Amino acid sequence: MLNFAIQIARDAGQLLVQRLGTAKISIKGDINLVTEADIAAENLIIERIRSHYPQHGILAEESGEAIMVGGKRSDWKWIVDPLDGTTNYAHGYPCFCVSIALEHKGELQVGVVYDPMRDEMFAAERGQGAMLNDRKIRVSDVEELNRAMLCTGFPYNVRERPDFAREFANFTMAAQAVRRDGSAALDLAYVACGRFDGFWEDGLSPWDIAAGALLIREARGKVTNFKDEPLDIYTVQVLATNGFVHDAMLKILQ
Ligand code: IPD
Ligand code: CA
Ligand code: CA
Repeated sequence: MLNFAIQIARDAGQLLVQRLGTAKISIKGDINLVTEADIAAENLIIERIRSHYPQHGILAEESGEAIMVGGKRSDWKWIVDPLDGTTNYAHGYPCFCVSIALEHKGELQVGVVYDPMRDEMFAAERGQGAMLNDRKIRVSDVEELNRAMLCTGFPYNVRERPDFAREFANFTMAAQAVRRDGSAALDLAYVACGRFDGFWEDGLSPWDIAAGALLIREARGKVTNFKDEPLDIYTVQVLATNGFVHDAMLKILQ
């Protein structure tokens, strides 16, 4: 199933690249966009899952949840963000990805995050470690916040949440650097491979988090909510780190 996820993420990523710069853009909310490419990539992924695994459930950003397949509740659920980083994509800013995860009885089994612009495939299978293309990845070993490069994101309700600006300022004063790249799934993959030492965001959805969370666990990182409780992908807060800077980041968030 990992190879299947890799293949559909690659195909959906190619579709995104082909339509970059020409996909029609619509408005979902005040600052929340969706493009024709989001929909087309999601349709491609859903059709492929439906034809290979017709009994599996699917939770996908643009079409919602289908847990009842053939009248039965499936133990398997694919969690799909066909285009994470839509605002970047709509502006031609080349930082976006496809994120696909598979859950079995509530446990993440497979997670892939594919960046089609760099042809980087981040892939993890439960208990088998995490890979970037054909090499094994691990989180970084940076221990101090002062030496850490962090990343965050702002959800679409940021205008009603002034606390984001305060957190951002506090981390900027404490860390070596802070980035805001606009693709949470890719941010998590970057923590998994050690490019970022920590990532935090409040206001995410399961399709933003699921694949990245498995990547981080399999790369020996740590992923929790802002109270240091184990991550539940169906809640919105994520603190994902190399493990070493986790407590220092929690202190700033609490
Ligand atoms: C968004 C991106 C962004 C994050 C937002 C997400 P989308 O997903 O991951 O980085 O800050 O909270 O909703 O809408 O581009 O799939
Ligand atoms: Ca997303
Ligand atoms: Ca999306």
